[in-house]
Parts: sequence; C-alpha cells; structure tokens
Amino acid sequence: MQIMIKERQKIDAIDAEMARLFKERMEAVHEIALEKKASGAPVEDLQREKEMIERRCAAIENEQLRGHYADFLRGVIGVSKDYQNDIIAGCEMPGHQIIIERDALAKAGSLLGIPGGKVMIVTDSGVPVKYPQAVENSLKAAGCEVFTVTIPQGEASKNLDSYRTVMEALVSCGFTRTDTVVAVGGGVPGDLAGFVAATFMRGIRFCNIPTTLLSQVDSSVGGKTAIDFGRVKNIVGAFHMPLKVLIDPDTLASLPQRQLHNGLVEAIKVGATGDAELFALIERSDDLLADAGEIIRRSVNYKQAVVKADPREKDLRRVLNFGHTVGHAIEALGCGRYLHGEAVAMGMMYFCSGATRERIASVLAKYNLPVRHDIDPEAIRSLIAHDKKASGGDITVVKVDTIGSYRFEKVNIQDLAL
Ligand SMILES: NC(=O)c1ccc[n+]([C@@H]2O[C@H](COP(=O)([O-])OP(=O)(O)OC[C@H]3O[C@@H](n4cnc5c(N)ncnc54)[C@H](O)[C@@H]3O)[C@@H](O)[C@H]2O)c1
Repeated sequence: MQIMIKERQKIDAIDAEMARLFKERMEAVHEIALEKKASGAPVEDLQREKEMIERRCAAIENEQLRGHYADFLRGVIGVSKDYQNDIIAGCEMPGHQIIIERDALAKAGSLLGIPGGKVMIVTDSGVPVKYPQAVENSLKAAGCEVFTVTIPQGEASKNLDSYRTVMEALVSCGFTRTDTVVAVGGGVPGDLAGFVAATFMRGIRFCNIPTTLLSQVDSSVGGKTAIDFGRVKNIVGAFHMPLKVLIDPDTLASLPQRQLHNGLVEAIKVGATGDAELFALIERSDDLLADAGEIIRRSVNYKQAVVKADPREKDLRRVLNFGHTVGHAIEALGCGRYLHGEAVAMGMMYFCSGATRERIASVLAKYNLPVRHDIDPEAIRSLIAHDKKASGGDITVVKVDTIGSYRFEKVNIQDLAL
C-alpha cells in the first residue's frame, strides 16, 4: 500500500511536469503552424514522422516499452497535427490567448509573447495616445523594434486607403514573415490591422489590444478581419486568428459613455441568449467600470464556446445575430444616427415577448439605449430582403423566450411585425 502511494505521488509529479512540457511543445507547434500557413507547406510529412519516432524510440532500451512509447509518440503527433490543422483553417481557439488583466498594456512585452523582431502598432487618432505609447514602451523593453501607424478615427478609415497606408509602412520598414502587427484601439483599427496581417506575405503574426467595450467583448473573438469596400461593410476580409488578445478593462475609463453603452449591447445580447447570470449582473450593476472585467470575461467565454463549435459561421454561430438582422437595417437606414449597438438594441426588441421583453427593454433603458426608432418598417423589410441572409423571402431569426436561452425560427420577411 505504502509503495502504491509513493509511486502514485511520483506519477503525479511526472504528469505535472509533462503538462508543463506539453504546453511548451504546443507553443512550438503553434509557431510551426503559422510558418506552414504562411508558406503553404503541408501539415503532414509521413517520412519525417516515421524517422522521428524511430529516433526517439532508440533511447528506450526495453523492447516492450519501446512499442508503447512509439504508440505514445504517434498520439502526440496526431494531437499536434490536429492543432496545426485548426490553426491553418483559422479556427484555433485556445482560451489562454485572451488575457483580461488590469494594467495589461504596460506588460504587453511579456504578456504578448512576441519573440522579438519588428512590431507595427496600428492605432487611430481617437485612441488616447497613452495606450499605444504604453504598449510601445513595453515591447521596446522586451527587445522588439517598434513602429506605429495612426489612421484617422472612425469607420470611414476601414478602407483600402488605410490598408494601403499600413501596407506601405510595413514594406518601407522592412517587415518580413516573422514580424508582427499589433492593433491598439477599437474594432476599426482591429479589423484593419488584422486584415493587413492576414494578407501581408500571405499572413504574419497578429496581436489585438482592443480598447472599446465593443471590441473587447465582440471583435476580440472569432478571428474575423475586414475592411469596407464600395459602401459595403466588411466585404473584403479574411479569418486570421490573433496570437494573443490583451484586454485591459481600465482602458474603458476614457471611453465616452455612449460608446461604452454601445458596446454593452453585445454583452446584453450574450446574457439574453446564453448567460442569465451575466444578464443579471448587467441589470444590477451600479458601476459598469468596476464590473467590466467580469462582463468582458463572461461575454468572451460565451462567444469563444460558440465560435469553437461553429468556426465558419455555418449554423450555431448565428445565435450571435440576435437582434442583428433588423439592427443592421436600422443602422444602415439611420444614416449614422445610431451606433451599431444602439441599432442592435432596437433590433432585439422584435424577437422577444412578454416578461422577457420587459426585462430586456428595462436593462436597455437603464443604459440610455434606444428601444424605438422612426424608420419606415417597409424600408427595413426591403433592406433585409436584399441582405445575404434572405433566401426565398425567408430568414432565420434568433428568438429569446426566457433570459439565458434562445431558439431559431424561420420567418417570412413580409410577416416581420416591425
Ligand atoms: N471582427 C469582428 O468580429 C467584429 C465584431 C464586431 C464589430 N467589428 C467592427 O468593429 C468596428 C466598431 O468597433 P468600435 O465600436 O470599437 O469602433 P471604433 O474602433 O471606431 O472606436 C470608436 C471610437 O472610440 C475611440 N476609442 C477607442 N478606444 C478608446 C478609449 N479607450 N478611450 C477613448 N476613445 C477610444 C476611437 O478612436 C473611435 O473614435 C466596426 O467596424 C465593426 O464592423 C468587428
């Protein structure tokens, strides 16, 4: 009995060490996957795998054990290949890549784990300068050569001109495949910088440091990058997973209240469709900035779980569209009067009823978010009909009957009671 306890303790210690080494091994596999993604090299190399197993097994003298060790190695190689395929397909979702931490910007050098080289910070003119500055200082202290490009603030900058500006900066500063692009700001620099990183030399390392609530709870997850083109939002883009996302909830202190509440709608949406506790937290909060860390953490966890189950937005991920079908139309027809979150807030009101609708309406009212608009319902219907989600006049919408749950329903656009 004594022996068993002793040997089990030994195994526990070995397993703990193996877990640490496994993490390190997968970090190396991650880097290799990025290289393979950039160069187009195949994940599988059977000859190399065979030689590697033979080489490793030579260290095991016991013949019987050697066979088991070969099986063990085959398993590890299989896991590594799955991981590489996920990364290359753009659906890598390791939770540790999103770090939510106070004062994180000043620690970017150590937290981002960038292995030196050149870094291009992409930010915009509305982001308080102290944020990109803190990131730059920290990255420089970690040994990186840092450059910064600042685009004008606002959605109008998510275009080909800004794309060209950042690309030109990368080329003129001599960036190569092993260098890094880091976005510091809201969803606009985030989407733009991510798309640049996805396409420069067929894809280089990208890190995201979102500083608006919308970008922290929403664009931080899923790897979607894009620019607008010909008046169509996000029409040119790519899936490109950031190596790390760094979220400092304290950056929200400088955000105008309207922007803060605009981002909160995405968290309310998450609460309404899948996390009743999050919804209740937002309902009872009397200090959003103090609760921001928890609100962001819960929203990010939920979106990560959904995206992991449906990385290419085939079906399940449509739950994230709660309120968006009508919201997008209101946003577009409002001609700049409504921010994205405000339009989604109004869009959500059509897809819930009874006591649930009252709860959603009152939480929106608490944060001065609109629940009614003055846009012609016919114009909304006809815009939705042109939306890509409409096929044969029918659309699939997300409905919330009880807070924390959802169901899909097919409805005809003409039957939408707007
Ligand atoms: N990739 C995705 O999955 C995804 C998801 C949702 C939204 N988006 C995109 O995100 C964009 C909207 O993002 P957004 O709302 O963050 O807009 P934004 O990037 O334009 O930021 C809003 C404003 O806040 C300013 N700002 C940013 N951080 C600040 C801070 N900490 N303090 C003070 N001011 C600050 C910016 O300069 C800007 O003027 C849209 O283009 C949308 O398409 C992308």
